[in-house]
Amino acid sequence: MSAQLIDGKAAAAAVRETVKARVDQRLQQGLRAPGLAVILVGNDPASEVYVSHKRKDCEQVGIISKAYDLPDSTSQQQLLDLIDELNTDNEVDGILVQLPLPQGLDASEILERISPEKDVDGFHPFNVGRLAQRMPLLRPCTPAGIVDLLDSTGEPVRGQHAVIVGASNIVGRPMGLELLIKGCTVTTCHRFTKDLQHHVSQADIVVVAVGKPGIVKGEWIKPGAVVIDVGINRLEDGRLIGDVDFGPAAERASFITPVPGGVGPMTRAKLLENTLISCETLRK
Ligand code: GUN
Repeated sequence: MSAQLIDGKAAAAAVRETVKARVDQRLQQGLRAPGLAVILVGNDPASEVYVSHKRKDCEQVGIISKAYDLPDSTSQQQLLDLIDELNTDNEVDGILVQLPLPQGLDASEILERISPEKDVDGFHPFNVGRLAQRMPLLRPCTPAGIVDLLDSTGEPVRGQHAVIVGASNIVGRPMGLELLIKGCTVTTCHRFTKDLQHHVSQADIVVVAVGKPGIVKGEWIKPGAVVIDVGINRLEDGRLIGDVDFGPAAERASFITPVPGGVGPMTRAKLLENTLISCETLRK
């Protein structure tokens, strides 16, 4: 392997430390701790794990997390009513609805009901619009964390050709907006892209967020490119792997994120940072 690993765990620990220091300072000043409401509907096993991590992270930095574990049978109206209640709760700075929601619930309507200043996932159309107009308030956690990881390499980002694989609302689309702000030339590939290899092989920066192991082959990577792998795929033997063929890609890349230990920890840390931003600057 010739690539240097981008250590997401260390970067995330640094973000958590900064958040914790500020929360501690608030408490010393007699101010209340930030609060995050985490809503989980149903019992998707992966979502249960993610949510338990988010709640543990909050505890570690002194953010008060309020758990709302709701049954599969929860109706759209019950969920909207809960969000209305949390929107007016002065001790709640952030509201997170874990996705995917069970079938039958309309995620768009639910996400749009969250007050934009409490939208710590950055998924509300208001926050997406602010990002699109280069005036972000609350930024989606995964793309914001990736920007920090790219900056941490010390490699130039402005002017680079970034190729994003995957066009989801959670990662691919906001990632394109973040990289435009950073001054990249951005190509977004998706399920209808005709020649994925052609695009990936042109990239100075590759961000892959599809959820399919091996969708990007190591030989496609331009020598010296920076590779960011957002995929988290569990193999039958329990191991986690990303979307990029790690070994061959690491032979060619200058920097690469491991899975696990790359993007995932930064996504979690950025949620804490957004909750603090909401508490300190948006809700005053
Ligand atoms: N499901 C997968 N990723 C995310 C995320 O970043 N936020 C929420 N709310 N749900 C998710």
